[in-house]
Amino acid sequence: MPDSSARATTIAIPKGRVLKQLLPILQNAEIDTEPLTRESRKLIRATRTRTGAPLRFLMLKPDDVPTYVEYGAAELGIVGRDVLLERSYDLFVPLELGIGRCRVAVCGRPGEKTTALGRPLRIATKFPEIAKRHFDQRGVPVELIYVGGSVELAPLTGLADLIVDIVETGETLRQNGLEVLEDICEVSAVVVGNRVGIKLAQERVQPLINALASAVAAT
Ligand code: PRP
Repeated sequence: MPDSSARATTIAIPKGRVLKQLLPILQNAEIDTEPLTRESRKLIRATRTRTGAPLRFLMLKPDDVPTYVEYGAAELGIVGRDVLLERSYDLFVPLELGIGRCRVAVCGRPGEKTTALGRPLRIATKFPEIAKRHFDQRGVPVELIYVGGSVELAPLTGLADLIVDIVETGETLRQNGLEVLEDICEVSAVVVGNRVGIKLAQERVQPLINALASAVAAT
């Protein structure tokens, strides 16, 4: 009989495209994913593992996942490395999931220069830190313009010379007449953990990490 008084383990997950790829891994880890696939505005989805261990999933914007885990509002989280590269967090990273694979790249109109132009290059991006590190390493002065989405619009409208963005299938670039000009890095999704939370609740959290690791190996 499952212990109904057991405390639920809380896992922060991103809504959106990574969630679709995450579902088979969760299913292989013997987690009931039905509450995650339900069309609903509920932000906390309660479920169980096959052995009856209670779980709570927090449905978040990807950028917010590490924050919830770092502050202990969730014990585990699933997030792209791009988010971890953009800001520094004090988190434990016990597992690579091998999903959400994409690259971070400098993109623009075909043939656009990515070197100094006699003025700072204007770069629109959701990733100003990653962009700054990349151009600093190459000694190229840049002016960074933060945008929250539809980044590909920036070079098309004169807002910026170039963008630094995530490229997964390349379809958004293609449909907007842009291309990858320089690769920065490859990223994929990882499990992150709250350092203290994992220690305090090891008997609940570690079996879950182990089940996810086996599921990744089997998926
Ligand atoms: C991301 C990214 C690109 C697109 C790349 O945007 O910023 O625009 O996906 O994917 P593709 O190479 O498969 O086309 P997202 O879909 O998260 O939406 P956003 O523009 O609102 O940030």
